[in-house]
Amino acid sequence: MKVAIAFQSSYGHNKAIADYLCQALESRGHVAASFDVKKSSPAEMAGSDLFLFSSPTHIGRAPRRMRAFLKGTVEKEAGKPYGLICTKLPAGAGPSHETVTLESMQDILRGDMKHLDSLSLDSLKIKGPLREGFEEKLDKFLDDILSKV
Ligand SMILES: Cc1cc2nc3c(=O)[nH]c(=O)nc-3n(C[C@H](O)[C@H](O)[C@H](O)COP(=O)(O)O)c2cc1C
Repeated sequence: MKVAIAFQSSYGHNKAIADYLCQALESRGHVAASFDVKKSSPAEMAGSDLFLFSSPTHIGRAPRRMRAFLKGTVEKEAGKPYGLICTKLPAGAGPSHETVTLESMQDILRGDMKHLDSLSLDSLKIKGPLREGFEEKLDKFLDDILSKV
């Protein structure tokens, strides 16, 4: 299967997630490529069978760049399956408003692409690190997603 992983990252967390997913997919015999939403266009992901999106939380939701990239993707990839990942600060460590990052991403794709699963990961501080054990969570997430495609 050909898998596209689109990410946005300021401090490297979501890039590390995309890199990990690429390597985990390839070790399972798939072809994977990652796309930085600040440097790529949705058209570059054409021909992919599965889409994974990995986003930080900015002011409670997915940042504008990621939301624009999702809008561009859904116009081109109707009916295709996707999975969502977000990173955020642990409860109590971040701003006090509600965090709706995954929902803000799914709202854009809802009805047009096929949602398989979502995963939320914590970064302990804004600049990291990701909470220990994130690799195991990503492996389980990936296995669940791949069993549903
Ligand atoms: C401008 C900005 C706003 C943020 N707002 C939130 C927020 O509202 N809630 C939260 O839990 N984390 C917030 N964070 C923390 C990031 O979501 C978190 O550090 C994330 O893991 C960064 O991922 P990255 O290194 O891939 O960019 C914010 C970070 C930045 C830089």
